[in-house]
Amino acid sequence: MSESLDERARAILLGNDRGGYTVPTAGLYPFQWNWDSAFAAWGFSTFDPDRAWTELETLFAHQWPDGMVPHIVFHRDDEGYFPGPTVWSTGRTPATSGISQPPVAATMARLVLAADPSHRERAAALVPKLLDWHRWWIRARVRDGVACIVHPWESGRDNAFDWDVGMANVDGSDVGPYQRRDTGHVDPSMRPTKAEYDRYLALVQFGRGIGWDQVRLADEGPFLMADPGVAFILIRACEDLAVLAAEVGADPGDAAEMAEGLRAGLDTLWNDARGHWDARDLRTDTFANVLSSGAWLCWLAGAGRPEMEAHLATAWGAVRHGLPTMDPAHPGFDARRYWRGPAWPFYNALVAMGLRDAGKDAEAERLRADTAALIRNGGFNEYFDPVEGTPCGGSDFTWTAAVWLTWAGRER
Ligand code: GLC
Repeated sequence: MSESLDERARAILLGNDRGGYTVPTAGLYPFQWNWDSAFAAWGFSTFDPDRAWTELETLFAHQWPDGMVPHIVFHRDDEGYFPGPTVWSTGRTPATSGISQPPVAATMARLVLAADPSHRERAAALVPKLLDWHRWWIRARVRDGVACIVHPWESGRDNAFDWDVGMANVDGSDVGPYQRRDTGHVDPSMRPTKAEYDRYLALVQFGRGIGWDQVRLADEGPFLMADPGVAFILIRACEDLAVLAAEVGADPGDAAEMAEGLRAGLDTLWNDARGHWDARDLRTDTFANVLSSGAWLCWLAGAGRPEMEAHLATAWGAVRHGLPTMDPAHPGFDARRYWRGPAWPFYNALVAMGLRDAGKDAEAERLRADTAALIRNGGFNEYFDPVEGTPCGGSDFTWTAAVWLTWAGRER
């Protein structure tokens, strides 16, 4: 059984390969997405390390001069996607979006190198680009000592409940008419609502209006929230980058210092009243007040706390399949709506990486076995209903196939 699932997973990666980059899934997501690509590279490393490095190299070939690595590279036109290049209007060739996505690439590059240490030179060539990107985060997104996002899409957890508090202050009433494409590919009940979408677009229009000046976007834009997910990922990425650089004899620059500085700023994300890591709206200095997926990444940055272990146990007690992306006891929990409840295999892989490094082997193994069962029973879908185990969202998904090959399908 496992063997044929391995074959299926490889076929998905190869089928989503558009020549040098991989689309997350055909139809719904027809371009190159930043963190999806990093996971794709990890997947490719299990059977074609050369192709794995190409994936990362293609992504970084579209890095902006200021160091930003965009969340989407629109390699070729596709009418089936909205908002496309003309809406973003960033002036890049090929077109890209104007925001970034969680910086997992350094962590994935380290894993790709571990799978086949012979590609030292390609890793070494990537190190300065990764450094530039991480420095961009510090310059353009770290405010109040902690990593922030200027658009919910920058978190990679698009419609998480976390962002509602900040989005409440974004005016979406004036965005004009538009035609969504996502709801033509998958069931609208699984996608963000129209009101959310209006505000997403208002933020894109603001960025366009200031010529995508990334510092102004953070300092003057209508939305700025500190994101525990990106905060933990960036700390981990800086640490992994320092190790990767040392392994290949490249200059690690200030990677270790960046990690240290970011760690010092983490305390402002601890919601003491509720006892968990939490997103914070910097415009109104208000916590999101929700136990959400970003918090599950604390172990990845060595920031686990006993309270978080207790929350993990409670969340696991409430659902039967995988890890929910939002507290199942919260009134906003929705088992099928994207980042407001569903379990995502690739995300589970990231959480499990942290749990394992924190010595929580039993929890990491539970998450792996749960994720493997979801995929075995439901297929390589984008995400799953954690209450019923139903496959949801897009099918034949790249990062689901990737984490099957690297993690979920590999019993220890
Ligand atoms: C959705 C997800 C985002 C992902 C993209 C492509 O927008 O929220 O994290 O990168 O799809 O899979």
